[in-house]
Amino acid sequence: MLTKKYQNELSDNINLHFTKQGQAFQVRPLRESDLELVADLLVHLSRESLFLRFMTPFPKQTPEAALEKTLKLWIANPQLVVAMLAIVEIDGQEQVIGIGEVNRLADALPVEVGLVVRDDFQQQGIGSAIVFELSAFGKKHDLNSWQAILQTENRGVMDFARKLGFAFNSKRDREMIELNGNL
Ligand SMILES: CC(C)(COP(=O)(O)OP(=O)(O)OC[C@H]1O[C@@H](n2cnc3c(N)ncnc32)[C@H](O)[C@@H]1OP(=O)(O)O)[C@@H](O)C(=O)NCCC(=O)NCCS
Repeated sequence: MLTKKYQNELSDNINLHFTKQGQAFQVRPLRESDLELVADLLVHLSRESLFLRFMTPFPKQTPEAALEKTLKLWIANPQLVVAMLAIVEIDGQEQVIGIGEVNRLADALPVEVGLVVRDDFQQQGIGSAIVFELSAFGKKHDLNSWQAILQTENRGVMDFARKLGFAFNSKRDREMIELNGNL
């Protein structure tokens, strides 16, 4: 779960953003009680988005499998430094439509950034808002140097990183691109 030292600082930190169409959404840090909300995001993701985010063939998630993955990837992940959720309210119910996180895999390495937005909400500014909040957190805590490992076919995310103005360099092999940059 979230690195203990950041939990109190982050608990009340909720920021309101708007999609390109003017729909309001919150971006706030993950809480332990978000297990089911995040699992529901996994259930809604297409195979393609799951593959682009997690880099391995990832079967379409059943609700049971999604709960297990959510625990492992986020709620009970000891390497997680921070995770930000994008949340909309639909018919009075909160739904998670994106999650971005920073993991510290080893002390000496740059932190690793991962991000995914629900397919039916992509290209509306939600990924940008999550990165904005992660970046604000990173600047405050000197987590400036980051990397992301991507599929070479994931042209969209390269455009995304450029559009957000990140300076980065990339190393590529046949299947993967490693982006290194500063938050
Ligand atoms: C990459 C991803 C997180 C972007 O989130 P998003 O909410 O769709 O992005 P935004 O709407 O904030 O996009 C901001 C800008 O990035 C660029 N962009 C985003 N997605 C793009 C795509 N698929 N192709 C080309 N450009 C893209 C656009 O320039 C866009 O600005 P514009 O709409 O004003 O032109 C989302 O597409 C996603 O979840 N993809 C699958 C998982 C993934 O690839 N994760 C990254 C690896 S960890």
